[in-house]
Amino acid sequence: MAKLTYIKQASQLLCMDGGRGPRKGREMSRLGVIADGSVIIEDGVIAFCGSDTLAELFMGSISKEALEKVEVIDARGMVAAPGLIDSHTHAVYAGSRENELEMRLHGAKYLDILKQGGGILSTARQTRAAAEEALVTEAKSRLDRYLLHGVTTVEVKSGYGLTVEDELKQLRAIRSLDRNHHVDVISTFMGAHAIPPEYAGRPDDYVKLVIEEMLPTVASLGLAEFCDVFCEQGVFDISQTARIQEAATALGLKLKLHADEIAEGFGGAELAAALRSVSADHLLKVSHTGIEALASSGTIAVLLPGTALFLMETPAPARALIEAGVPVALATDCNPGTSPTCSLPFVMNAACLTMRMTPAEVLTACTINAAYAVGRASSIGSLEAGKKGDVVLFKADNYKQLQYYYGMNLVDTVIKNGEVVVK
Ligand code: NIG
Ligand code: FE
Repeated sequence: MAKLTYIKQASQLLCMDGGRGPRKGREMSRLGVIADGSVIIEDGVIAFCGSDTLAELFMGSISKEALEKVEVIDARGMVAAPGLIDSHTHAVYAGSRENELEMRLHGAKYLDILKQGGGILSTARQTRAAAEEALVTEAKSRLDRYLLHGVTTVEVKSGYGLTVEDELKQLRAIRSLDRNHHVDVISTFMGAHAIPPEYAGRPDDYVKLVIEEMLPTVASLGLAEFCDVFCEQGVFDISQTARIQEAATALGLKLKLHADEIAEGFGGAELAAALRSVSADHLLKVSHTGIEALASSGTIAVLLPGTALFLMETPAPARALIEAGVPVALATDCNPGTSPTCSLPFVMNAACLTMRMTPAEVLTACTINAAYAVGRASSIGSLEAGKKGDVVLFKADNYKQLQYYYGMNLVDTVIKNGEVVVK
């Protein structure tokens, strides 16, 4: 007998409808709002999404035996949206770096802290020292927090191991989280996150290790779907990044890129576009040609306004990107150095208030566009028959209130695969 979950009569149901590729320009404002809308989920998969009048008719067509197994969720006074998707995180790591916030408040620069062996290298030391189970336990509590904030899918990168064994340990932890937590986890290999101390002064030897040992092992074990690189001044240059990404493509991995975060005119966005990367992320310092290149390649700009805020930097030019026709997604960048948060709703607030994205654009950026950014648009990111029954109910009269009340968690109920996991 099928299990039915009937989410009934939301004040506003945001269908988002997927289909034709990531949304750009004005399409980012189309939410498919249905007043008094309902969703019916059958065995974890959406069977119906539309007005409650039609939902009642749908229920009338179901046999009596099946009807005894219905769980009705009263959504009156709520906004119902697809489960939120965090498409860029480093959520598996050990330790914390609050001392670096103090250093930066006194004027220290992020890349200088890294050069002196802190930053990513400080987290790498702690992550190398941690057992796999400890990494899983710590990250599990982060995923619990994600769920409380309405997030049902999270992309997580490696990149705090920086040896073959420690990168594999992090990736296995990511896989174990996907298998053992309600939140779905998508894995990205990011061995090229920093040059580890053993390779100081000989970065090309580390690039060789990434290409010749890490990538083939990760690919043969099926431990990652994407490959990402920190393409930045003093970290991995354009040519090293291109070599790594070409090797990853040859092994069947899809690409993401940390692009144009800190140095002006570095050319990360142009490279991401040329390599047909699924996404180019950060983009605080993206150039005009970089924006044009992303618009022509269809590469998704994953913007991380929480990181810009935490680094006390000017955020990415979201308006220019949207106006140029680049599809935009938003993510937390959850990591211990530049964005220690699991609150995607807070990042949505920041996108609105610091980058002037509208409430509708922000919702598109964390649902359907984020689904495209993690290669999952056929199963999540919108409320449509056949997609996963991942739904979040916010205590709000309309979707505009989600960005109006800021810094507060408006999540009331989270439904994952048709099951209530937060109430
Ligand atoms: O996306 N920029 C590179 N990587 C992360 C920060 C990682 C860290 O500082 O631990 C980011 O901001
Ligand atoms: Fe990042």
